[in-house]
Amino acid sequence: MKKKFLALLLTSTMVLTSVVFAGCSGKAEGDGDSKTSKDVPNIGITIYKYDDNFMSFVRRSIEKAATDKAEVSMNDSQNDQAKQTEQVDTLIAKGVKALAINLVDPKAAPTIIDKAKAAKLPVIFFNKEPEESAMKSYDKTWYVGTDSSQSGVLQGELIVEAWNTNKDKWDKNKDGKIQYVLLKGEPGHPDAEARTKYAVETIKGKGIEVEELAIDTAMWDSAKGTDKMDAWISKFGDKIEFVICNNDAMALGALSSVQKAGYNNGGDKFMPIVGVDAIPDALTKIKEGQMVGSILNDAKNQGAATVQVAINAANGKDPLDGTEWKLDDKKAVRVPYVKITKENVKVAEDTYAQ
Ligand code: GAL
Ligand code: CA
Repeated sequence: MKKKFLALLLTSTMVLTSVVFAGCSGKAEGDGDSKTSKDVPNIGITIYKYDDNFMSFVRRSIEKAATDKAEVSMNDSQNDQAKQTEQVDTLIAKGVKALAINLVDPKAAPTIIDKAKAAKLPVIFFNKEPEESAMKSYDKTWYVGTDSSQSGVLQGELIVEAWNTNKDKWDKNKDGKIQYVLLKGEPGHPDAEARTKYAVETIKGKGIEVEELAIDTAMWDSAKGTDKMDAWISKFGDKIEFVICNNDAMALGALSSVQKAGYNNGGDKFMPIVGVDAIPDALTKIKEGQMVGSILNDAKNQGAATVQVAINAANGKDPLDGTEWKLDDKKAVRVPYVKITKENVKVAEDTYAQ
């Protein structure tokens, strides 16, 4: 009788233990990928979609920066704001100590802020900057990203510098103007809007006339970039004197299109292409002379700053405690962009080597 009871006790203890273990390390549906360890805050994170070239580097850098310092519950919002909002509910229910949100729709910030407020949780937005009114509506919200307009200004400068050195070859119709096509990121995205505006304004500000042959969004996406560029090449052909892209994924897409059409293969036919991000694939093309340059969007530091601010906020400390970052009047940490050409590719390579 006693023996039987002991055996029963043992089995039930074993069952209990395994249930407890499963509860700790298991991946419940909708919880995202949890990395657990003790005595560190759990940070609930959403990425607007994993299937975004640049964001995959930010995600990696977040995971790296969080090692031993925070538990990370990472979610792929699959470009669906409703899904992301649900993920935030789940993270709050799970008891995370701070939220780090890469919005799908920058206009959804107030919805997320309301939820964070109700749960008395700090919320750090990153990569997609909410409107100022949203940022001001809650004292426990901060932004980590860049100064979007800076990437446009730097890209404009890079275009002017390259144009001035090569205009004998690149000004194909010899009218002194740059006939360009522009691949835009997601419309309404602060980066896409500012890059488009400031790149073109900067060129004009330097006294170079421009003519826009075509502009369209390719949603930050390589394959969409190729499709748009295919159509523009068949429509404008050699009339295109510059291909300006809001990011490198689209620039790489455009490059594969121009190469199909016989350009940028090392021969005489060349169409200058510029992007933003300076992701490793683009750096290879810059080194090979197939792309003119890019603007480094520092994934490593943006990821690290997001984690640092989130951990501090989770621990009730000053968000910048122990860091060298500064906050501007919009409660934002802004990581600087850097112009990248063949001459200084290494700067970007070092940033992405993690
Ligand atoms: C931008 C980046 C793009 C894309 C976008 C997503 O900063 O340059 O490549 O990742 O963020 O929000
Ligand atoms: Ca021209």
